[in-house]
Formats: sequence, structure tokens, C-alpha cells
Amino acid sequence: MHLHLRPPFTILKLVLLTLHLQLQPILTLSPCKTSCGTIPINYPFALEDGCGSPQFRHMFNCTTTELFFQTPSGSYKVQTIDYNKQTMTLYDPSMSTCSILQPHHDFIMTDIQSAIIPPSQDTVFVLLNCSIDSPILNHYKYLCFNFEGHTCDELYGGCNAFRVFHLLTNSSPPCCFTSYNTVKFMSMNILDCTHYTSVFNSDKLKGVGPLDWVYGIKLSFSLPDVGCESCKQSGGTCGFDTDTEGLLCLCSSFTNSTRECAGGSMISEGLNNAPWTKPLLVLLLVVLLHNMMGLL
Ligand SMILES: *[C@@H]1O[C@H](CO)[C@@H](O)[C@H](O)[C@H]1NC(C)=O
Ligand SMILES: *[C@@H]1O[C@H](CO)[C@@H](O)[C@H](O)[C@H]1NC(C)=O
Ligand SMILES: *[C@@H]1O[C@H](CO)[C@@H](O)[C@H](O)[C@H]1NC(C)=O
Repeated sequence: MHLHLRPPFTILKLVLLTLHLQLQPILTLSPCKTSCGTIPINYPFALEDGCGSPQFRHMFNCTTTELFFQTPSGSYKVQTIDYNKQTMTLYDPSMSTCSILQPHHDFIMTDIQSAIIPPSQDTVFVLLNCSIDSPILNHYKYLCFNFEGHTCDELYGGCNAFRVFHLLTNSSPPCCFTSYNTVKFMSMNILDCTHYTSVFNSDKLKGVGPLDWVYGIKLSFSLPDVGCESCKQSGGTCGFDTDTEGLLCLCSSFTNSTRECAGGSMISEGLNNAPWTKPLLVLLLVVLLHNMMGLL
């Protein structure tokens, strides 16, 4: 008896395995990668063209472990993305900070980037070693603001990197705490300052010395309102048609829909929303196959 039972069970296992492998592509939810290194990639961002929102097209580059945000002035390493607060923090390794002085490297964004993912209100640009003829000391004086009571002397005195400005002249060359718009509309040459640095979480830096400031740029993004919610709720991933840039709801490896995933993606939808459907599906197949085997 035992010997008689074995072969059908082996075949059953084989059939199940084959079925499982064939189901795999159907069960794969979307062609879009969901992370780069440790950084989660969700709507509106994406690594592949055709995923995410078309507005953020071609802005990212994922090397094996690191995510870069690309602007006309270079690739900036993304440190964090906070999808709840809708912020992203960047670090420019060639920017000067309290501990390292480097030739200035302007931060330039495209018009689209400035509109949909501009530097946040709490990102402050600090222009350093400005000439006394600089427009921000004259006509555009109003562009410089009080940054939580901090002064140029604090920077020139408290940072190894900036001490050199102080030493050469034995006086403090002017500096200016300003917003991204100043840097956006006037290049460093027009501003007539030799260096700059940028700091974020500026609202939390009252009484904190420049050695402990958070250097980098925080960007603040908005979500395009194009009906991605209904796609997500139907178990799909938001993407777009690469030719027309019209919204596409990516339902599975072989179906896209214009708004939401319907009938055809019931499997992926069920899997997304209810983890019990997969074992149920397998159980159903087992029962079905078992009955078929019985008939043979
Ligand atoms: C679905 O859309 C994505 C992104 O545009 C595309 O890469 C893929 O080929 C499309 N699949 C089908 C079956 O149309
Ligand atoms: C991605 O960014 C890295 C780092 O800046 C750069 O070396 C690489 O060329 C970029 N790749 C693409 C495809 O843009
Ligand atoms: C500071 O600015 C002056 C011109 O205003 C320039 O000659 C000098 O080289 C700058 N200092 C440094 C360290 O770059």
C-alpha cells in the first residue's frame, strides 16, 4: 500500500510546485522598485521611468546602495525621505560645512523642481566671506534675515573651516543668512560671496553652536492630485504612460489600467489587503488536485 501511495504524492508536489512557479509572475504586484538601499521609494517618487508621478521623472538615480537626487548642478545624496512630513534631506559632499572648506558649488534646480520640490522653509543658506560691495549688503539687504540670533563671528570663530576668512583680514567679512530664493535668482558671482553652506531644521537651532548645526538641504515636496488613491486602494501601483504622461494604474506584470485595478487583478488585490487569501488559494488548489488525482 505504502509503495503504491508514494508516486501520486510526489507528482502532486511536483504539480503544485510548477503551478506555484507559474503563479509567481501573476502574484508579483508591480514592476516598480520599492527601495534603494535603505530608503523606501513610494509615490510620487520612482526609480523606473513609467512608475511614480511623471512630474518627478528622471530625478533619481539609484546606485547599488545609494539614492541620488539629480539637478542641473549635480547629483545629491538623499539621506532620508519622510513621506508623512513630505520632506527629503540631501547632502552635497562638495559643500562647505563647519568642518570643511570647499570651493563653492551652486545648488541649481530645474524650474519644475523649484516648483514641486523646493527647499523647505526651515532650510537656511549661509553666504560667507561676502565682499562689502555685495548686493545683499546694499540694495538687497532685506534678503538677509536674523537666524535665531546667530552671527557671522560665531561661524568665523566657531568653525575650523571658516576661521580662515577671519584670519586673513583680521576682521569679519560680511555674511548673510538667507533663503533658497536668493541663491536661486542670484549666482554666487553676482552675490559676490566666495562660499556658502546650508543648514536645515533651522527652527531648532536657537542657542546651538554652528558645530552642531545640521548641514545639508531639506526639500519639501507636494503630492500631485491625480487620482492615485483609488489606484492604490484597488491594489495597484501608480505610474504613467511614458509617451503621454497620463496616469496608469499598474495592476500586475501584464495589466495596466487607466484608473484602478478591476477584476483581473483580484489576486494581487486580495494579497495586498488580506494576507489570508494566499494560503486559501493554495488550499483550494490542493483540494482540486487531490480530487483530480482521485479520479485518475
Ligand atoms: C504598464 O506600464 C508600465 C509603465 O509605463 C510599462 O513599463 C509596461 O510595459 C506596461 N505594461 C503593459 C502590459 O502595458
Ligand atoms: C548616478 O549618480 C552617481 C553619483 O553621482 C553618478 O556617478 C552616476 O553617473 C549617476 N548615474 C546616472 C545613470 O546618472
Ligand atoms: C574671501 O574673499 C576675498 C574677496 O572678497 C578673497 O580675496 C579671499 O580669497 C576669500 N577668502 C578665501 C579663504 O577664499
